Amino acid sequence: MTQQPVRIAPSILSADFAALGAEVEAIDAAGADWIHVDVMDNHFVPNLTIGPMVMKAVRKHSKKRFDVHLMVTPVDPLISAFAEAGADGLSFHPEAGPHVHRSIQLIKSLGKRAGLVLNPATPVSVLDNVMGDLDLVLVMSVNPGYGGQAFIESQLPKIAAIRKLIDATGRQIDLEVDGGVNPETAKRCIQAGADALVAGTAVFTGGPSKYAANIKALRS
Ligand code: DX5
Ligand code: ZN
Repeated sequence: MTQQPVRIAPSILSADFAALGAEVEAIDAAGADWIHVDVMDNHFVPNLTIGPMVMKAVRKHSKKRFDVHLMVTPVDPLISAFAEAGADGLSFHPEAGPHVHRSIQLIKSLGKRAGLVLNPATPVSVLDNVMGDLDLVLVMSVNPGYGGQAFIESQLPKIAAIRKLIDATGRQIDLEVDGGVNPETAKRCIQAGADALVAGTAVFTGGPSKYAANIKALRS
């Protein structure tokens, strides 16, 4: 069993964009393990969010792991740009590739943690020939593009299937879930084998005075 104690990665997509530096400091102080950065390009997904310049600016506000989720195509130019801007881990979607193995090698060559993201309809078999190179697998429990969507239940058996594949490697590959995570769905994700949870709405609801309690509620 390689499942690790759960790490909480608040998505700053749900933060106050007019105060991003202060928001990152607030979730850091409230006990966030990682800072999740959702990068959307209005092409691979229907929304437009954070670019490398904003990433570079917020990076200064926390020493924790910046977990960058790239929802962009083509992906390679932005892997380099976000690595330069201070990302610690970079995850991308195989559909955005186009050359999945090449993009993973690029992330590794930049000294960053490499993650592959599975959309709700993406089969587990996409991991077949690359698991040995990955540091993280991210299961989307909503379709990418927006915060605040409902958790898609069919992803729970998928999480369990990937847990088994990760355990078979004997390596500590992070198994992260993203989308519709709240205290109730978090529990089921952890039971299925997840050990990292992204949460936007569930962390940022109520403002800074609530962040610590919101994060704690996702762990227990
Ligand atoms: C969706 C993003 C998620 C999302 C999570 O494309 O990758 O990180 O913002 O938001 P909640 O937790 O509100 O579903
Ligand atoms: Zn995300």
